[in-house]
Amino acid sequence: AIERTLSIIKPDATRRNLTGAINARFEERGLRIVAQRRLRMTKAVAEGFYAVHKERSFFNSLVEFMCSGPVVVQVLEGENAVALNREIMGATNPANADAGTIRKDFAESIEANSVHGSDSPENAAKEIAYFFAEVEIVG
Ligand code: CMP
Repeated sequence: AIERTLSIIKPDATRRNLTGAINARFEERGLRIVAQRRLRMTKAVAEGFYAVHKERSFFNSLVEFMCSGPVVVQVLEGENAVALNREIMGATNPANADAGTIRKDFAESIEANSVHGSDSPENAAKEIAYFFAEVEIVG
């Protein structure tokens, strides 16, 4: 089925001017960038986005990292988009990521891992709504 997923190009990647290289990975695999905005997260925005992780040991560090520079939030659309994007990204920890994935090729660490992608269609809907109004998504 055609799905949408929420993607974030993280501060470690924008800092190294990798936005276009990462977007090319999505487009080469057939994902369409149907919404996209560059912004600087505030602490409140990052805490809200990652609220599900608030009891985790890495939460405060993650929030600080996500606010450390610009991010690009985007909606990717395509066949099986949630799982396909996770395949393109590779494992959370770049040490475990497969060859040819974004995280294997670009990530600096498990925290500074270049991209975020929704982990299920249900979470994708919530995460997309956190950043985008429906009228901003143009398929
Ligand atoms: P992301 O897919 O955005 O979801 C949660 C983020 O927390 C993850 O990518 C990493 O950037 C970060 N993180 C830092 N440490 C860990 C860890 N030990 N396990 C999982 N995620 C971590």
